[in-house]
Amino acid sequence: MILQGNRVTLGITGGIAAYKAAELVRLMVKDELRVRVIMTVNATRFVTPLTFQTLSQSQVRLDTFETASPERVEHVILAQETDLLVVAPATANILAKMARGIADDMLSTLYLAYAGTTLLAPAMNTQMYLHPATQDNLRILKDRGAIVLNPGEGELACGDYGPGRFPDPPYIMERILDLLYKKDLEGKSLLVTAGPTREFFDEIRFISNPSSGKMGFAIAQEARRRGGKVYLVSGPTYLTPPWGVEHIPVTSAREMHKRVLALFPHVDVVIKAAAVADFHPLPLVDKGKFKKGKKDSLTLELKANPDILAQLGKKKKGQILVGFAAESHELLKNAQEKLEGKNLDLIVANKISEGFGKDTSKVAILRRDGTTCELPTMSKDEVARVVLDEVIPLLS
Ligand code: PMT
Repeated sequence: MILQGNRVTLGITGGIAAYKAAELVRLMVKDELRVRVIMTVNATRFVTPLTFQTLSQSQVRLDTFETASPERVEHVILAQETDLLVVAPATANILAKMARGIADDMLSTLYLAYAGTTLLAPAMNTQMYLHPATQDNLRILKDRGAIVLNPGEGELACGDYGPGRFPDPPYIMERILDLLYKKDLEGKSLLVTAGPTREFFDEIRFISNPSSGKMGFAIAQEARRRGGKVYLVSGPTYLTPPWGVEHIPVTSAREMHKRVLALFPHVDVVIKAAAVADFHPLPLVDKGKFKKGKKDSLTLELKANPDILAQLGKKKKGQILVGFAAESHELLKNAQEKLEGKNLDLIVANKISEGFGKDTSKVAILRRDGTTCELPTMSKDEVARVVLDEVIPLLS
């Protein structure tokens, strides 16, 4: 991860959603953020500070006047050591104090001493959330630059139905990372393809491959976090598209071809991680399901699909083209042929036994100048980071 800073101060205030903040802290620690937790007294009535101390591996701050040494003005020093202030859950009470500048506990005092970005995740009873006082306070905070997440809608712990639910911790985490990432793809547009294609020969049967979409989705997520405008054209997968990415679902190679070609003139970079079928079967019936009858065998006639990447290689006008090569043998030799044959700037080569469906991959990156970078087994998130690190110098 390339972050502008990793010190997050998390304010937890007194609502039932305080228990969900434990999951948020766990996610932050997993992503190697340095988390310092401040709890309000009311928050400690819902969850004990020990929970957050254990998860964050750091002392939970409760009292403005509690200090490690007499010369430390704790709220001022902590504010200076904060790259991002997150208040989750944020109650109506803390929103009112922050909007009006009331500093009567550690969290509200730190807020006044802090000059950076604030991310707020309001969570409360629907009527409290919709009350004009709360809505006014949210407006004041937004006008002042705070990023306010919309609460989820649904049945609340108090039994009411409506807006007020704490957003899912993974979603809050994504917004946190989005704010902390270095924006080295700001102003750039990227088209990423992912997943398999499905080539139907009747209404319900198709030829496909085991691509899960994980590699392409990881690239799309990393590019978006780094500030790029990302179009993700993907074949059928079970994955949720990353936040902030424009997702364009497709089914067949011919559909992918159409969507990719239409987007191509509008992007700076194309990264084709999709496992596109090279052929499609001619349909066995015009409509519905093919009936087997008494047949012992069946022959499908396959017709070539357009090679999307090769076509982009012919059309490119300054765009950076990155292909993937999935090979069963002679990995580097075959990848090199694809790099040249499809007029690519980079190609990411992986063995079929190591890429499809897994959370990790072992890849080699072949460059246009003939050099190759062979990488150890890494998570697909890490591969995504390395691939984008290779793309960025090519853009300038
Ligand atoms: O989705 P995952 O489970 O995470 O797995 C990731 C992956 C193994 C699918 C990925 O890492 C990968 O290798 N993708 C490319 C697989 C592939 O189809 O390789 P290929 O060698 O057949 O194609 C070479 C390149 O041409 C690819 O960029 C492909 O997207 C592109 N292509 C291929 C055929 C075609 N008709 N049009 C294309 O654009």
